[in-house]
Amino acid sequence: MPSRHDPVCPHTPRMLHGGDYNPDQWVATPEVWEDDARLMAEANCNTVSLGIFAWVALEPREGQFDFSWMDRVFEILEKNRTVVNLATPGGAKPAWMAQRYPETLRVDRFRRRQLWGGRHNHCFTSPVFRDKCRIINTELAERYGSYPYFGVWHVNNEYSGECHCDLCQAAFRDWLKQRYDHDLEKLNHAWWSRFWSHTITDWDHIESPSPIGEMGVHGLTIDWHRFCTHQTIECFNAESAPLRELTPNLPVTTNFMTAYSGIDYAAISRGLDVICWDSYPSYHDRDGDADLAMNISFIHEQRRAMLNKPFLLMECSPSVQNYKPFCKLKRPGVHILEGLQAVAHGADSVLYFQWRKGRGGFEKFHGAVVDHFPTTETRVFQEVKKLGEILGKLDGVVGTMPDVEVGLIYDYENYWAIDTMSGPRNVDKHYIETCYEHYRPFWNAGVPVDVIDTALPFDKYKLLIAPMLYMVKPGVAEKLEAYVRGGGTLVTTYMTGLVNETDLCFQNGFPGPLRELCGVWAEETDVPYDDEAVRVEPVAGNALGLSEPYEAGGYCDLLHCDTAEALATYAGEFYRGMPALTVNRVGAGTVYYVGSRNDRAFQSAFFSRLIGDLGLQRTLGDVALPPRVTATWRGDGEKTFVFVLSFNRDDTTLDLGDRSYVDVLTREPIGGKVTLPGYGHLILESA
Ligand code: GLA
Ligand code: ZN
Repeated sequence: MPSRHDPVCPHTPRMLHGGDYNPDQWVATPEVWEDDARLMAEANCNTVSLGIFAWVALEPREGQFDFSWMDRVFEILEKNRTVVNLATPGGAKPAWMAQRYPETLRVDRFRRRQLWGGRHNHCFTSPVFRDKCRIINTELAERYGSYPYFGVWHVNNEYSGECHCDLCQAAFRDWLKQRYDHDLEKLNHAWWSRFWSHTITDWDHIESPSPIGEMGVHGLTIDWHRFCTHQTIECFNAESAPLRELTPNLPVTTNFMTAYSGIDYAAISRGLDVICWDSYPSYHDRDGDADLAMNISFIHEQRRAMLNKPFLLMECSPSVQNYKPFCKLKRPGVHILEGLQAVAHGADSVLYFQWRKGRGGFEKFHGAVVDHFPTTETRVFQEVKKLGEILGKLDGVVGTMPDVEVGLIYDYENYWAIDTMSGPRNVDKHYIETCYEHYRPFWNAGVPVDVIDTALPFDKYKLLIAPMLYMVKPGVAEKLEAYVRGGGTLVTTYMTGLVNETDLCFQNGFPGPLRELCGVWAEETDVPYDDEAVRVEPVAGNALGLSEPYEAGGYCDLLHCDTAEALATYAGEFYRGMPALTVNRVGAGTVYYVGSRNDRAFQSAFFSRLIGDLGLQRTLGDVALPPRVTATWRGDGEKTFVFVLSFNRDDTTLDLGDRSYVDVLTREPIGGKVTLPGYGHLILESA
C-alpha cells in the first residue's frame, strides 16, 4: 500500500490553489495589488507564482535593482498567508542584456542570430546569461528566501528549444568528445558516417543539424537532442545554484509543458525536487472531450511516475487560451473537472495561468481568474471559487499516492529516434498516439498506470507495456528480460528492437536484442494506410480466449515464430496466415508481441483479458464504468480517495452496487445508483 508523502509546503499542508501572478504589470496602480489580495481570498486561492517574467521590473538597468514593488507585494501576500512560488526570471531577458551581450540571443537552425523580443529564447550555453541569472537569483534568494509561506522555486519557465551559436557548437563538440572518449573512430562508427562520405576527420567538422547542412545523420540528430537536454540541465543547474546554496531547504522545480518532446523531460525530472507542469487542453474541439481527457490523464500519470510522488499542476487556464485556432469557452463544470482530474492523478495543486488579465500584450485575452472587468460575478470567477471550496475539503488527499501495477514506457530518446528515422513511413508515425492507445483501455477500466522511461525500475509492475520501442538502449534488453523472468508480463509491438542508442540497426533479426525474449523474428514491416484495414483472425482455441476478428492498419509486421506461439494471424494481404499476435513464455513470465497497429476493439478485448488474468486492481472493482467516465484513486494505506470523473456532456448513471463510500464533499454515505451530471465528478472515501 502507498504511504503518505510530506506536503510540498510543510507550512501549508493543503491543496494549493491560485496561480501565475504578474503584479509587475500593475506597478503604476498599486491599489490593484490590494484588490488582488481581497479577490484571492474570495476565490479561495492560497497560492501565487510570482515574478516569472519580471526581470526588467527587478533589474531595469544592468546591476541596478529595484525590489521595492516586490517587497510591497510580499507584504500584502503575507497578510493572507499566501504561499508564494517565487520564480527566477530567466524565461524572458531584458533588452539591456541583448543589447550589451548579443551572445545571449539565440541562433536558429539556419544560423541566424535572433533579435531581442519574445521569450524563452536565451542561449543556454552563454556564460553571460548564466552569470546574469546567478546574480539576480542570488538577490532574490537573499531577500525572499525566508518568507514564511515560501512555496517552491519556479526556475525559468517552460524550458524548450535549442541554440546553434558558436558557443553552443563548441560546447556540443566538447560534449561529443566526452561521449566518444575523444575518439573520432568511435563517433564515426556510432554515426555510420562512411555513408555519403560523411566521415568526420576533425572535431571542428562537426556542426549541429541544420536544414542548410546535415539532417540525414540520425546518430548526429539524436546526439544533438541529448546535448540540448544536457545543456538545458546545465543551464537549470546554473540558475538554481544560488537557490540551492542560500535556501537549501526550499524545493526547486521548473515547469514542463504537455507532450513536449524536444528535450528529455525524464532526464530533467531527476534533478527536480518536485515535478510541475502546465496543462492546456482545448476542450470541445472536434476530437471529443473524452479522448482529450484521456491524453491529459496520460501526461498526469507520467508526471506522477517521474519522481514517484505527488506533483503540482503549475498552470492551466481557468477558462480559455488565446493562441489556439478556436479558443472555445470551457463548458460549465469542465474547469472543476479538469482541476480534479489533475488531483485525481496525483497533483497537490491546481494553479492557473493567469490570475488577472493584463490590459495589453499578447495574453490580454487569455483566460484569467480576474477579468478586465474585475468583478467576482463572472462565471469563471465563481467556478474558480467553487473549485477552491472543493480543494479546501481535500486536505486528507495531500501527499497520497496510488498503488500502480501497470507500467507503460514512453521514452524521449526513442521518440527522437522514431521521429528522425527515414522509413517505413514518414508521416504520422504515431509514437505518442500509440502510447495513448495502449493507455486507453486502462483509463476506461479505471486502472492507474505509471508512464515511465526506460531508466526507471520495472520490477514493481505486474504488467509492462512497451509500444514501438524502436530504440533499445544498452542495458534495457537485460532489464526487460530480468523483469519477465521474474514473473512479469510484457507487451510490446511492431517497430520494436530495430536500432541501438545511436540508431545503428541490430543485425540478428528484429526485434534485435529482444528477439529471444519475444520469441519472434519480424522479417519486414508493411505500412498499409491507417484506414486500409487488414483483417486479423484469432487462432482457434488461443490461450487468451480471443474470439473476434479485428482490423489492423498503419503498421503490420511480417512475423515468424521462433519460440513464440501465434494467438492471431493475418487474414488479408499477401501475408495472410502469418502470425500477427504472439505469446512467449520465458522463465516465470510472459511476453506478448503485437505485430500490427490494431483497432480499438482489439485493444479493449486484449487488455481487458490481461487485466482480468493478472488480477489488476480496478479503482471501482467490478463496477462497470460508463463510456467516457474514468475512475482513479490515491491513498495512504489507511484511507483511499476515489475520483470518478465524467467527460460526458449529459447525465450518466453509475451503479456503485453494494460498495459503500462516504462522499467527501457532503460527508454523506453514498452507494447504489448515482447520477453523475454532465462533466460531473464524485470524490469518495473508503476506510
Ligand atoms: C505557458 C506559459 C505561460 C502562459 C501560458 C498561456 O504555459 O508558461 O506563461 O504563456 O502558456 O497558456
Ligand atoms: Zn548558443
